[in-house]
Amino acid sequence: MKGFNTEMNAEAIATEHAARLSAADSLLPLSEPLDTFAEGPVFEVTKGDSGATGRATHTEVTPDISYSLWRALKEHRLSVRLAGSQSDELLGDLLVRWDEYLTSVAAPGDWDTAAVVVRPSRDTIGSAELLRHGFAPVRVLAVRPADRLAASGPPAEPGVRIRPAEAADHDTAVRLHTELLRYDAEFGGVSVRASATEILAAEVAGQIGRGNPTLWIAELYGRPLGLLQIQLPPESDWVSSYTRADRVGYLTTLSVAEQARSSGVGSALATHAHQLFDEAGAEAVLLHHALANPRSTPFWCSQGYRPLWTYWQRRPAVR
Ligand SMILES: CC(C)(COP(=O)(O)OP(=O)(O)OC[C@H]1O[C@@H](n2cnc3c(N)ncnc32)[C@H](O)[C@@H]1OP(=O)(O)O)[C@@H](O)C(=O)NCCC(=O)NCCS
Repeated sequence: MKGFNTEMNAEAIATEHAARLSAADSLLPLSEPLDTFAEGPVFEVTKGDSGATGRATHTEVTPDISYSLWRALKEHRLSVRLAGSQSDELLGDLLVRWDEYLTSVAAPGDWDTAAVVVRPSRDTIGSAELLRHGFAPVRVLAVRPADRLAASGPPAEPGVRIRPAEAADHDTAVRLHTELLRYDAEFGGVSVRASATEILAAEVAGQIGRGNPTLWIAELYGRPLGLLQIQLPPESDWVSSYTRADRVGYLTTLSVAEQARSSGVGSALATHAHQLFDEAGAEAVLLHHALANPRSTPFWCSQGYRPLWTYWQRRPAVR
């Protein structure tokens, strides 16, 4: 750890923060992906050899867009940079400053507000402070490098057939999407809105019939019981700044009907997705999943994914 005789300034904090992240996880991006140009108040705290900066930002979406299903309508974020031996304590100080600010801008008890701190998963500094301030690790952005060998998994299910979704699959795809949304809603992050079916129906309609299919159906002995949605580059480029890998794919959705779970359908769809990502030359695949989901977390680990970014959330933002 570098020693500083004078109080650290923002530049020194950012430099040490970036060096620590680089050492902690070789798949993190070399520069901060999240908030470089975002507008918002900046908090700075220093103590001895340590310093921390936090930038508060705020985004708001309307309930008619698909992104609104995966978040609170009003989301406050704090992106932090930490340096020095007392970084844990300083993150706690930043959270106190941010809380003072939040009470002046967010309505107490409003379920459609959330306070979110997105932290590199392997830079665990300050996790206890986040817990103390009422945050929970709700979701991760997980990564799977293309050359990762996944565990062998269940034996290939002979009755599974995977094919691009067709117009006749529209209602099945919406139903499987909705099932996933409802199931995931139990674990935070997701908002099941009155508009959900309408939003998902429009999204599915936009995916069906593409020249290069992105929506796939798994049939088990002729019955459509599994759904896969992917984004290939350049459509997935929005997520590439979260990792050092140059060319990335994004796995949007994987859902298997309740009665068909644990029978190899999900694994068959994941293998199919990885083939498509390989063919597109993706160096890594990223996906979001809820940490407390007892099906998705072990499933994605066994498929070769591991946490890259952890989303700590407190909802409502102000209690
Ligand atoms: C997560 C989900 C897609 C997984 O699909 P699935 O079809 O159930 O998964 P699979 O059957 O292919 O794989 C899991 C099974 O493989 C078997 N398996 C896993 N690893 C294995 C290994 N190394 N060797 C042998 N068998 C193995 C197990 O039987 C396991 O079932 P279990 O967890 O009940 O013990 C599905 O459960 C689902 O849709 N869940 C609800 C929605 C959801 O959470 N989606 C993910 C959102 S990100």
